Amino acid sequence: MPANAMLDVIILAAGRGTRMRSPIPKVLHPLAGRPLLSHVLDTAHALNPEAVHVVVGHGADEVISTLNDTTIQFHQQVDQLGTGHATAQALPSCNPDNLVLVLFGDVPLISVESLKRLVAAAGPEPAMLAARLDDPSGYGRVVRDAAGGFVSVVEHKDATPQQLSIAEVNTGVLAAPANLLTELLARIDNNNAQSEYYLPDVLALARADGRAVAVELTDDPVEMAGVNDRLQLEELERVYQQRTAESLLRNGVSISDRRRFDVRGHLECGENVVIDVNVVFEGHVVLGDGVRVGPNCVIKNAHIGPDCDINAFSHIEDATLGSECSVGPYARLRPGTELGDQARIGNFVETKKAVFGRASKANHLAYIGDTTLGDGCNIGAGTITCNYDGVNKHQTIIGDRVFVGSNSTLVAPVEIQNDGFVAAGSVITKTVPTDELAVGRARQRNISGWQRPVKPGTGSTTKKDQ
Ligand code: UD1
Ligand code: CA
Repeated sequence: MPANAMLDVIILAAGRGTRMRSPIPKVLHPLAGRPLLSHVLDTAHALNPEAVHVVVGHGADEVISTLNDTTIQFHQQVDQLGTGHATAQALPSCNPDNLVLVLFGDVPLISVESLKRLVAAAGPEPAMLAARLDDPSGYGRVVRDAAGGFVSVVEHKDATPQQLSIAEVNTGVLAAPANLLTELLARIDNNNAQSEYYLPDVLALARADGRAVAVELTDDPVEMAGVNDRLQLEELERVYQQRTAESLLRNGVSISDRRRFDVRGHLECGENVVIDVNVVFEGHVVLGDGVRVGPNCVIKNAHIGPDCDINAFSHIEDATLGSECSVGPYARLRPGTELGDQARIGNFVETKKAVFGRASKANHLAYIGDTTLGDGCNIGAGTITCNYDGVNKHQTIIGDRVFVGSNSTLVAPVEIQNDGFVAAGSVITKTVPTDELAVGRARQRNISGWQRPVKPGTGSTTKKDQ
């Protein structure tokens, strides 16, 4: 590309995606938790273009509202008449002095490096990105002359048997000066097997005009892989996840099985992190030094401090953990959970908008919601905060070193002050003052001489005696 030229990127995303057999537009299907098109957009933005254009058609409104990105210029292609026709919808909005790069919304893993090479090779002449595949079927083939020069791209459906044996294929990505592309696109026709206006035909026209067409090669079949059906999407997902895992492994993260590892977003790991099988990370997750994550956990938008243990089958979302906390197995930390250093949340405990102070713990079977706890508290098994009256949510405030006996019910709004002690099985509805013991249950009565119920006519009190 000439040093002073800027870039316009056009992403084609109007196709129906029939083979996905889905009501959702193809380019919105997720790869690693994000729409296919979002991956292409990230790549496009990384090239610092003057403008990014997306050609939409099938499911246009859904695509536009899902992306919700005001920096993108959307263009409608009402009838999908081919990739050349689609490109022509956006081209008039491109800066005529710019170079235009065309990408496909269903080819999500195209790399910034390959595109930079392509862009550098283009202008004033066009350039295309090609690849050699062991199985080229379905793709457009690159036809060359005896001297090895580019001649044309022939679509699979238009190819002769001899052309079908060509292993060099069109990735679909090309770059050309906007003015040249406009002039060439006006000349392509749809006299072909699919009656479509093929974008790659501009390359053959350029060549016929005596122009040199640069063909850049990529040696990574993954980056050119298109998603046409759910099988290809699953294959690409596994490749993507395995590559993410491999890069973490190389950076010193222990992953038990890279085939059973999923990052749907962004994962940051400190030193000496260990991740067992079947853990799913979503959104932005930070794992501090020495964190260990047991099998089958889901962790979403969370910051886990150093040396925490997240045990098997735990579910964590929008939560912040200090250092040396222990969570699970089978714990659920819902949004707004904040754990101080050395806090412990054990099995079958659910927390929501709950702030635990240092070394406070709820080790078994509890629901703690809309609650703040000080340091060194112990919440007994079966404790429930009644935070909801059917209309509003209310707060439970717990001081330092509070002990809540098992199976207690804390009816919010309520406060238990420092060193307060709640007897097991209590229903707490009013403040427990500092250092006091609250007993909120009926006193035990023992009734001597009590008779068990008797089956009429038998005198028997147990089933066994019948
Ligand atoms: C295209 C190329 C082929 C290349 C292959 C690489 C053409 C004619 N063929 O074939 O040479 O090897 O990609 O993956 O370009 N689209 C529109 N509007 C349309 C038609 C398509 O926006 O009218 C979009 C689709 O949504 C898709 C992209 O363009 O994102 C490619 O279209 P598709 O029909 O999948 O082309 P292929 O047959 O795969
Ligand atoms: Ca395709």
